[in-house]
Amino acid sequence: MAPDASSWEGLRLYTDRLCLRTPDPADADALYNLFADSEVMHGLTKEPVSTPEEARAIIEEWIAAWRTEGLGPFIIETAATNREVVGQAGLMIFDTRGWTPSTRANAGTHGQPELGWALMRAHWGRGYATEAAAAIREWAYERLSIDQLVSLISPDNVRSQRVAQRLGATPTETVTPADSGQKTVVVWKHPPAAEPVR
Ligand SMILES: CC(C)(COP(=O)(O)OP(=O)(O)OC[C@H]1O[C@@H](n2cnc3c(N)ncnc32)[C@H](O)[C@@H]1OP(=O)(O)O)[C@@H](O)C(=O)NCCC(=O)NCCS
Repeated sequence: MAPDASSWEGLRLYTDRLCLRTPDPADADALYNLFADSEVMHGLTKEPVSTPEEARAIIEEWIAAWRTEGLGPFIIETAATNREVVGQAGLMIFDTRGWTPSTRANAGTHGQPELGWALMRAHWGRGYATEAAAAIREWAYERLSIDQLVSLISPDNVRSQRVAQRLGATPTETVTPADSGQKTVVVWKHPPAAEPVR
């Protein structure tokens, strides 16, 4: 099924403790702390940002992905009335030929949706990443007809590996993304979508 890129702006997923919503340019302020944190960005194999403009550029990229692909990172907020932004989790298309970020159009049959997550450090240790990723995986399997998700995780990223394990994913192969400067990542395969109950 082709992604429905038209209705992404109002999309919301709810879990017991969280509201997952699509990004807005104003999120750059709340997420600056995430993008400027060198430990968080090391986990994402990216350099930390040092200006608000760089944070805004990342959010614009995410919004562009939602517009064109009908998928992208969700903003994770607590569902309580004070609605605090705690991080992000969501989907990106990778081209398996070099394991680099791509689009469905460019990657064609080599396109592989990847499920990723990152929380502000103050919100680690509460199960938010696992809770958010489980809801996004269910949505992706049900609503985008994606039949297999993977997560790319650095071999030294133990916390992220624990998230993947809690989600029932298993490490399958080690790859060297073409844009990584020779750093390897492990491809964790998520359980495939369950057969629909008839
Ligand atoms: C990866 C990352 C999101 C993991 O964060 P996390 O807080 O460890 O993961 P979760 O939110 O799922 O929380 C799980 C932890 O909360 C604990 N926890 C506490 N209350 C919980 C609850 N109600 N439900 C579930 N778990 C709970 C769990 O026991 C677990 O702790 P443990 O791993 O020490 O046993 C975080 O380390 C991060 O943002 N890293 C930087 C970015 C990054 O590396 N992203 C991944 C790139 S591949």
